[in-house]
Amino acid sequence: MTEASVSIIVPTFNEADNIIELLERLEKSLRETYFRNYEIIVVDDNSPDGTCRVVREYARDHKAEDRIRCILRTNERGLSSAVVEGMRRSRGDIVVVMDADLQHPPEDVPRLVMAVLEEGDIAVATRYARGGGVEGWSRVRLLMSRLGTILVKPLSSASWRTTDPLSGFFAFKRNLVDPDRLRPRGFKILLEILERYPQLRVVDVPYIFRGRKRGESKLGLNAITGFIVQALEISPTARLRVAGLAGFILNLALLALALGEGLNRVVAGLLSISSGLILTGILGYALTRPLYRVRNVGPCRVGSTLARVYVRLIPGALTLYVLYLILSALRLPPLPAMVVAELLSFPVNVYLRPDTPLLSCIGG
Ligand code: GDD
Ligand code: MN
Repeated sequence: MTEASVSIIVPTFNEADNIIELLERLEKSLRETYFRNYEIIVVDDNSPDGTCRVVREYARDHKAEDRIRCILRTNERGLSSAVVEGMRRSRGDIVVVMDADLQHPPEDVPRLVMAVLEEGDIAVATRYARGGGVEGWSRVRLLMSRLGTILVKPLSSASWRTTDPLSGFFAFKRNLVDPDRLRPRGFKILLEILERYPQLRVVDVPYIFRGRKRGESKLGLNAITGFIVQALEISPTARLRVAGLAGFILNLALLALALGEGLNRVVAGLLSISSGLILTGILGYALTRPLYRVRNVGPCRVGSTLARVYVRLIPGALTLYVLYLILSALRLPPLPAMVVAELLSFPVNVYLRPDTPLLSCIGG
């Protein structure tokens, strides 16, 4: 028996067909594991199917109005902002966030809470660690999800801290996360918490993501573009990629120019790569600086930070140059050689050395 109190936040939109089963299974699993002190907060965006009404009826019939509530939002919509609203209203020591459609099994909630109590500040239910998985997905769907998880890595250094950065199922200590510091429009809410709070200790808890039995998914394609915009708003790593892209373009333009002036490709490549490198560092610093103010870590000192940036960037630039020379020696014309070298060195830089330079300012 533990004394810790738990708040479970469940965002809903048209989940009337699922919500009763969710509430029943959740209550059962919490009681069986001796979490008696809990509240369930459903945050519903005025679902046409009357999800909120169903929740309130259940609470009334079970004399559970003190522990089961529905917050009805009529002037706002969105999964992330619903979660943030639930956080504001919650009172428990530990907050759990989960979907209503039973894809996140209620029976796994106690394990998630225990992981926070015993091992860390935030526990992420993950499909992609040993022991985790997904049920009933086609190979294509599985591949898409895997791909999504890989593609967020270059956009968010926080995504390296868990095997399932896009998870919508997680638990954390309420006093460590201030809902008012999160943007309710939301980047994926878990990633945003991890971005804003680099010091939180993260524990992965494997679980099996179930197939949706009833109702339908609401997250579509424009969730992806929204995600990228939000990443640029709050993630230094995403902004560094923009700087990297600018450096790449300058590199190619100068290479073309230098070759046009009759310079040989060895010297031209060295000049253009160095120029791209200089631009990437300065622009990277300028673009990420404002984010550190927001995070209250203060801007890093210009001189020493730039020095650190270049120390991190130089091995990548050297790799690029060597690849370019090798490809040119293999008779590829210089411009295509540079493009291919960039494409080859990008994954090396992003996936093998994920720790981006400016992040070292934190706490430094
Ligand atoms: N209040 C509110 N407002 N709730 C919403 C909204 C909204 O605009 N849109 C969706 N929800 C609720 C749904 O009712 C459900 O309880 C939960 O949020 C997840 O929505 P789904 O539509 O079922 O999302 P999904 O299954 O496609 O995506 C889930 O898995 C992803 C990982 O594969 C979510 O958990 C994502 O957060 C997660 O990234
Ligand atoms: Mn779902």
